[in-house]
Amino acid sequence: MFAKLFSYFIPINVVKRNSSISKSLEVTWNNGELVLDSKNTNYSYGSLQRILKKGLKYIGFERIRNFENILILGVAGGSVVKTLVDEVKFVGKITGVEIDKEVVALANKYFKLSEIKNLELIVDDAFEFVLKTKYKYDLIIIDVFQDTTMPNFLFEEFFINRINFLLNKEGFILFNTMVISEKDRIRNIDYKKKFDNNYSLRMYPKVEEHNELFTIKKLK
Ligand SMILES: C[S@@+](CC[C@H](N)C(=O)[O-])C[C@H]1O[C@@H](n2cnc3c(N)ncnc32)[C@H](O)[C@@H]1O
Repeated sequence: MFAKLFSYFIPINVVKRNSSISKSLEVTWNNGELVLDSKNTNYSYGSLQRILKKGLKYIGFERIRNFENILILGVAGGSVVKTLVDEVKFVGKITGVEIDKEVVALANKYFKLSEIKNLELIVDDAFEFVLKTKYKYDLIIIDVFQDTTMPNFLFEEFFINRINFLLNKEGFILFNTMVISEKDRIRNIDYKKKFDNNYSLRMYPKVEEHNELFTIKKLK
């Protein structure tokens, strides 16, 4: 508890691991809060949690509470899982897919994800998982980063079509992106064009400095 109090003055590192996917992983007390960071960015809790929470607010907590199945691609420390369970009061099934088993070990040890009854956590590549799953979902949260880099497959037609197929009618996609360069900005504009009028897409720029969120509703 001393570390927690002291962290209001200066961040206190709890553990640091190397990761082939995220370069490094660090659990740190920061402003009285335990956060998970990769080498160059915040992964869970801290600003990342605020960003996804805003996205959930845009969709509507009330609406989400009535959903049955939620899929999260990119779980890290699971801050959006905590928001869904503790704040939205979602009691349906949550399936989380995380590629890095080191991240999962930290998430279970420091953020107690294994104690969340309605969460099934799967160690797999998000791309592989969406090809295999036999279920459909009411909300698909896409939050896949390798440090500050977003894998290309997220923006490719093949993946987009597969995600759209896995989404129930009236369901939502919440997609978190990072926009640092002009190239990223153009990539996001192109992404937007890939949805026809069967979808209602909204783009929320500058949610926090470099993040741009999409909410996409499947109309029919
Ligand atoms: C920003 S963090 C996710 C934060 C999380 N949504 C939360 O609410 O705390 C991004 C995560 O994506 C994971 N990731 C990167 N590439 C992936 C892939 N191909 N499949 C699944 N997860 C991946 C990283 O290991 C990292 O844990």
